[in-house]
Amino acid sequence: MKIKDLYIDYFISKGHKQIPSAPVVPENDPSVLFNTAGMQPLVPYLMGKSHPYGTRLCDYQKCIRTNDLEEVGDKTHHTFFEMLGNWSLGDYFKKESIEFSFEFLTKVLNIPVEKLAVTVFEGDKDIPRDEVSANIWRELGIKDERISYLGADDNFWIAGESGPCGGDTEIFYWRSEDPVPEKHDPEDERWVEIWNNVFMEFNKDKDGNITELPKKNVDTGMGLERITAVLEGVDDNYKTSIWTNIIAEIEKASNKKYEGNEVSMRIIADHIRTAVFISADPAGIRPSNTDQGYILRRLIRRAIRHAKKLEIDVNSDWEANIANAIMDLYEKYYVEIKENRNVVLEVLKGEKVKFNRTLEKGLREFEKITNGYQFDCLDKDLAFKLFDTYGFPIELTVELASERNLDVDVNGFYEKYKEHQEKSRAGASEKFKGGLASTGEIETKYHTATHLLNAALKVVVDENVHQKGSNITAERMRFDFSCDHKLTDEEKTKAENLVNEWIKMDLPVTSKEMSKEEAVNSGAECMFLDRYPDVVTVYYIGDVSKELCGGPHVSSTGCLGTFKIKKEEASSQGVRRIKAVLE
Ligand code: ALA
Repeated sequence: MKIKDLYIDYFISKGHKQIPSAPVVPENDPSVLFNTAGMQPLVPYLMGKSHPYGTRLCDYQKCIRTNDLEEVGDKTHHTFFEMLGNWSLGDYFKKESIEFSFEFLTKVLNIPVEKLAVTVFEGDKDIPRDEVSANIWRELGIKDERISYLGADDNFWIAGESGPCGGDTEIFYWRSEDPVPEKHDPEDERWVEIWNNVFMEFNKDKDGNITELPKKNVDTGMGLERITAVLEGVDDNYKTSIWTNIIAEIEKASNKKYEGNEVSMRIIADHIRTAVFISADPAGIRPSNTDQGYILRRLIRRAIRHAKKLEIDVNSDWEANIANAIMDLYEKYYVEIKENRNVVLEVLKGEKVKFNRTLEKGLREFEKITNGYQFDCLDKDLAFKLFDTYGFPIELTVELASERNLDVDVNGFYEKYKEHQEKSRAGASEKFKGGLASTGEIETKYHTATHLLNAALKVVVDENVHQKGSNITAERMRFDFSCDHKLTDEEKTKAENLVNEWIKMDLPVTSKEMSKEEAVNSGAECMFLDRYPDVVTVYYIGDVSKELCGGPHVSSTGCLGTFKIKKEEASSQGVRRIKAVLE
């Protein structure tokens, strides 16, 4: 973990501002399920928008990549990882960027220059060969034999199909007991990539046209798990200090050693860590059968399956012990982990209980089906039955099948899955219509009342009270807020009275559109800042409340009637819940 601190300290000493890690579920980008690189939350700024923290930024960003989820189990793959990154938004370019990376690696981390090699972009029909970067490396002492010029497949970087992009220079480390060869061979896997510096000067649009960006930026990324393995001299990422306590918990739960049980232990360690970060994310993802929720479900279920393989008593608190070891490690760095420890444990346990109920039966069914099975490919109906009746994610069926040298008709499964989804979606949209149809005058009143209650609690209880959720029906409002104690009767009465006072004053409700930044700077209250678009609406109630919100609201408070708190209770750790009515 020290590397994270060293990295941030170094870049701060070079005039960078540390920015907080964005949530793992990206806001305003429905095209991806998770953040996959440090630069992703910064795209608008790489495209030219000015960043409130300035032109030199650094961070450690939580990333989740699930495209090679099935690879997890080997020495190097993870579904979750942290990416160290530093950025120049139209500030420094190749020279400083390369010098910073070189100095950090050789002076701060003390990596010998002799163990380094670099690649630079050889250029193509539009972009010239990157002699500028190569010369900077030479000046720093990297020998010609250790500089390889490679094409766009290796040294041109873009996240996906379109967006900010550019040529890059990558830094490699010789990870082997064998003597370091004089010459860098890009095909030799003992050279492992540790850092990528992308010179983002272009934008690629959806049709593939490349244009220059308004500013030349630098985007760098260094995977924390890999650099840690390099520095600690191990070739198995799971043998680094990052995993020591986590693997120890798995050894304890299974009463087995890591050696000899690596694959299952890595899968459990990796998947529970990712599940912890997804469940703790402010987006509030919970296990389900779609999108991020499905990934979360798959991760937990696959971890449980491997726990059973290790003969862990899955009814014990094994998953909580592992998750706690993970959260102990990360809570210092990520506030959502600190705040949501109980939520995470509840999510893991809830999904475990659900899956345990059907897992044994499902496994028996699977045995029954495959024992004496005459074909070498499990058909789609059986795969779908395992999914639908026993909750087996398709990947689990594939994994079980491959242990018996069977294929699975995965495409057929997805066809059935889609049909099924469409049917249930049709049902859901009916329900949704019903919900909308009932949104009327009374709900609008309750909506305005939640703003008043939020403001009143700030005055009566603590100015640091924040909304954590709300739910409105025609009969009542429910309001969740952060607070570390049960409200006293006096606090309840005072809050109630204050809301009623504001109602009597018939305060005007007005709204104004502004940039998110402006809204935050003006001190407007906001529940999930990251989930709002760049332009937001702020609702004002007289001068007692100022909140980012989508509406609708009444035009003045006089029509709300009398506000009454019916109940105050705990919702979850550090969150209280009020149920109230307007009479
Ligand atoms: N965005 C670059 C990467 O992820 C730094 O490799």
